[in-house]
Amino acid sequence: MTTTVPATTTAAGPLGDRETDAREKDIMRFRVVSGPDLTTRNDAYLAWQLDRQQADLWPYFRRYDTALTTRATVVSDTGVITEGPNFGGQDYLSLTGHPAILDAAHQALRDYGPLTAGSPALGGATPVSRALEAGLAEALRTEHVALFPTGWASGFGTIRALMHRRDHILLDKLSHDSLRQGATASGASVEFFRHLDNDAVRRHLTGIRATDTTHAVLVVTEGVFSMDSDTPQLAELLGICREFGAQLMVDVAHDFGAMGEFGGGQLEVHDILGEVDFVVGAFSKTFATTGGFLATPSASAREYVRMFGGPQTFSSAITPVQTAVAHASLSIVNSPEGARRRAAVAAVATRLREGLTARGMEVMGDVVCPVVPVLIGDTPTGRTASGLIARAGLVAHLVEQPAVASDAARFRMQAMADHSNADVDTAIDILDTCIRKARQQTAR
Ligand SMILES: Cc1ncc(COP(=O)(O)O)c(C=O)c1O
Repeated sequence: MTTTVPATTTAAGPLGDRETDAREKDIMRFRVVSGPDLTTRNDAYLAWQLDRQQADLWPYFRRYDTALTTRATVVSDTGVITEGPNFGGQDYLSLTGHPAILDAAHQALRDYGPLTAGSPALGGATPVSRALEAGLAEALRTEHVALFPTGWASGFGTIRALMHRRDHILLDKLSHDSLRQGATASGASVEFFRHLDNDAVRRHLTGIRATDTTHAVLVVTEGVFSMDSDTPQLAELLGICREFGAQLMVDVAHDFGAMGEFGGGQLEVHDILGEVDFVVGAFSKTFATTGGFLATPSASAREYVRMFGGPQTFSSAITPVQTAVAHASLSIVNSPEGARRRAAVAAVATRLREGLTARGMEVMGDVVCPVVPVLIGDTPTGRTASGLIARAGLVAHLVEQPAVASDAARFRMQAMADHSNADVDTAIDILDTCIRKARQQTAR
């Protein structure tokens, strides 16, 4: 079956050279601007963004008019309505509409209201947040857990608190923004190693320990890299860290709960549950709510992060509804139903992967995880395809610079347990048709 893509009808009509600029120019040229007036010096950026919006080349800030289910209605700022299979949301186990989750949310709202007393340091905990910490500690086999208001805050706050000037941080080159920003803000010396390359980690550590045996070294990686759908050899990496007296941090935002026979994510798959020094994660992919956590075997590190991790002391705690939803999601993750849902999302991702590959598209990564990135390559084709896909009735997000390199634009398809075969097949048809059409248009 071939999907028919309706002709693009932009409100403004052809923009001439400005349209070429909107399609082709690099967003990063606006990243550093100068000038004395902060209220006007980004006007050129805004003009470029508006051109992109008018030319159907702007994939950001769309709104969902429906709940986060397998089919959704999404509306762009220029009024383009996309109604169809939803591969742009993060609800890997399809828990956001689950009756037990909604009941837990309502109960927490009735019992504790919509807000906590303040930051975790100042009365932000409730019995539900304590139960969630205990549940996470058990699931990750790591005794000490601290909750954060977002996944981003957990990575940033933990690194920012623990690491100091003269310490060393070694990050995978493709580490998430929260980890990179935490590293920069900490004042420690920061180095990046080649993506997934444990030999490179060993070389960096050899260099650091040749001159410095007195300061801490934190090696930072992720369980699954969601832009690439790949995973490090975690057990080997942990061994290398131990050899050099370094500590390991793994961000399990995308794999914890959604992967592994028992939901322990890549730490379970690599048989190192409970051994990693610092595990940070987000609830927003698998646990049906926003929020994040740190899990560590170190009581003192946890207490220190609770006192000095910015969002622990100076930002209001994750709300009772969030903690109740995450807690109820964890119960499902740990149950036979969780295992069924993990198998279902893996089947959806596999069907998507295989179908796209059969049509000649390049699917990135080598692990079957809920994220299926479809490589486009050049940014102009990605932007053009994104506009066509939105009009063809598929919710799928383009990822381009600054999230990935300018020659590595891609669509990050995110599978959910409840996606049907028909959803997957429609998505494959639309991607195939629209990406081909975009390639023809940009080749002209
Ligand atoms: C690896 C990683 N860490 C942290 C986060 C942030 O999580 P949240 O969006 O829940 O703050 C994300 C999500 O974008 C992520 O991919």
